[in-house]
Amino acid sequence: MANLFDKRFIINTGKGGVGKTTISAAIGLAAARRGKRVLLLDLGAKERISRIFGSRPLGYDEIEVEENLFAAHITPDVALEEYALMKLRLKTIYKAVFENRFVRSFLRVIPGLNELTLLGKAWHEEQAVDPDTGKPVWDMIIVDAPATGHGIFFLQIPDVITGMITSGPMFREASQISALIHDPVRTALNLVTLVEEMPVNETIELKARVDDELKVPLGYVVANSVYSPAFSPSQTRDVDTARERWPRDGGPVDRMLEAATFRQQRVELQRGYLERIDREIDLPQLRIPYYFTERFDFMTVSKIADQIERQVAASKRPKGHQGAAMQSAGEGA
Ligand SMILES: Nc1ncnc2c1ncn2[C@@H]1O[C@H](COP(=O)(O)OP(=O)(O)OP(=O)(O)O)[C@@H](O)[C@H]1O
Ligand SMILES: [Mg+2]
Repeated sequence: MANLFDKRFIINTGKGGVGKTTISAAIGLAAARRGKRVLLLDLGAKERISRIFGSRPLGYDEIEVEENLFAAHITPDVALEEYALMKLRLKTIYKAVFENRFVRSFLRVIPGLNELTLLGKAWHEEQAVDPDTGKPVWDMIIVDAPATGHGIFFLQIPDVITGMITSGPMFREASQISALIHDPVRTALNLVTLVEEMPVNETIELKARVDDELKVPLGYVVANSVYSPAFSPSQTRDVDTARERWPRDGGPVDRMLEAATFRQQRVELQRGYLERIDREIDLPQLRIPYYFTERFDFMTVSKIADQIERQVAASKRPKGHQGAAMQSAGEGA
């Protein structure tokens, strides 16, 4: 099984709000700690990475947010402008063409152009070579993809284009991007999900669509925000017994027992969904605990990076020693 850290081009996708940015930042941090030079590309509408790392807001040009970890926020408008400037070379021609109101509104409605320019930027970075050393500028590029729906459409665009046109510079670029995203040596698409009914259903569907239609090599399924059991099995039995015997009087003990039972039920519910992920998504799995923190900052992402490190290392061991490597959110803090 391939190791997460062996890939050069990692795409993290999933529904809105499941933790794509958090997981992207944590994978980036883990890889950077191993000495890799990493570029994190946030393609979402609003970037959160600068808040995590306490850096200035991200823009098109990457900034170093941690040692070896660089990040940029790429929006379609700026990506298109950069691309056009690269092709047209002269700012004056660019201004004449692209700052024309009619051209702008025309460009806005070309289906797939936004997605192509975003992927084009990511591809461009993957290809970038340091002129002094002749080596690639980046050891790893992590693409924090727009939410699913978009996420999948976005990866289909290069093939849609090469299916429509068969020559010219756009065809050549779309073919090269397509070659990158289908390359199992360089690329892995990770599916990030919450451990709840709807997100798990959608992730199962997404996996099937990737296998049947998209055919992009898959990496891991990342189960995010997993509750760690608050009680040992004997404590659980004690809570159950006390719950049966204690009167529902609305007093402090009653309310505490209610809270304990609720927490235990959440853990049980998640256990069912985790089993479903195990059964129905044939991919190596990362389990990231839910962190109860007021401010979700660098420290928390750093703990997630540690979890990822340990679980990736554990999954390389022979079968039988795998799985259940998740440390609860409270441990090792
Ligand atoms: N393991 C976790 N424990 C606790 N909170 C989490 C965890 N992972 C993510 N969160 C919180 O969930 C929220 C959404 O996370 P994040 O921004 O990473 O999701 P996203 O998939 O990138 O969202 P979007 O689709 O809006 O880009 C954030 O407020 C984040 O702090
Ligand atoms: Mg995000």
